Amino acid sequence: MNTARVEAFQSKIFDFYEKNRRSFPWRSTTDRYGVMVSEVMLQQTQADRVAPRFIRWRERFSDVQSLASASLREVLEEWSGLGYNGRGQRLHRAASMIVERHDGRVPSEPSQLIELPGIGAYTSRSIPVFADNRDIAAVDTNIRRVLIHELNLPETITPKELLDVAEAVLPKGRSRDWHNALMDYGAMELTGRKTGIAPLTKQSSFKGSRRWYRGALLRELLSTGELSRESVEERYADCPHGIGSIVDSLVMESMIEEYGENRMLRIAGESGSGG
Ligand code: ADE
Repeated sequence: MNTARVEAFQSKIFDFYEKNRRSFPWRSTTDRYGVMVSEVMLQQTQADRVAPRFIRWRERFSDVQSLASASLREVLEEWSGLGYNGRGQRLHRAASMIVERHDGRVPSEPSQLIELPGIGAYTSRSIPVFADNRDIAAVDTNIRRVLIHELNLPETITPKELLDVAEAVLPKGRSRDWHNALMDYGAMELTGRKTGIAPLTKQSSFKGSRRWYRGALLRELLSTGELSRESVEERYADCPHGIGSIVDSLVMESMIEEYGENRMLRIAGESGSGG
């Protein structure tokens, strides 16, 4: 791509950002733990819904150590309402691994970040971008749509090729602002509806889905403490996916545990003494 075209694109995005930038609580922190929390929350939840929960989370779990030493119950309670509880559980595990392997400090290298649970290709790059202003390209759904539309790329472009393009147009030294600007442009100006560019993955419909039953069961276990498998099977007899198989997956994922002769179920890691 020629320099003039790259510069024109950069000016267009930065001009928009100057006039329209959104303010979010995670944009005023460079703390790597804070950025990691926000990026995981933002993976599948809208920014406006994340904002108040991000503030609350950091009041409750102020750093990696405090998150690592919390129980899964505390983490899931604080996560509730954000959806996809597995993300909260993985963030909790990531905190433990950071304490064990990185002395409690969130690493800044994508190659180390991607080893952590819940941190994928995008998030392993977005953390050093937003926390450290590193000259690394990170491409999420919104940024992908902006690049494809503004640079006239084919929708069939591979993630690897798109990352190369994203790197080529990244204004060095302004990575944090640039990524925030691309996201604001994508969210406010160049919406998916406007472009017709389809995201690579789409959230499945929720009510009555497996995920919906998983959430309902976890919420119930968080509020009651424990339930027998038998009573769960009675309560969710109408579950079209088979509640037994949903219980099995949650046990396999160590989200809940089964114990005793009555096959009681509880959030994993609970002592049973009510603490
Ligand atoms: N989605 C993911 N990261 C974001 C950010 N930093 N600002 C707004 N939306 C986001």
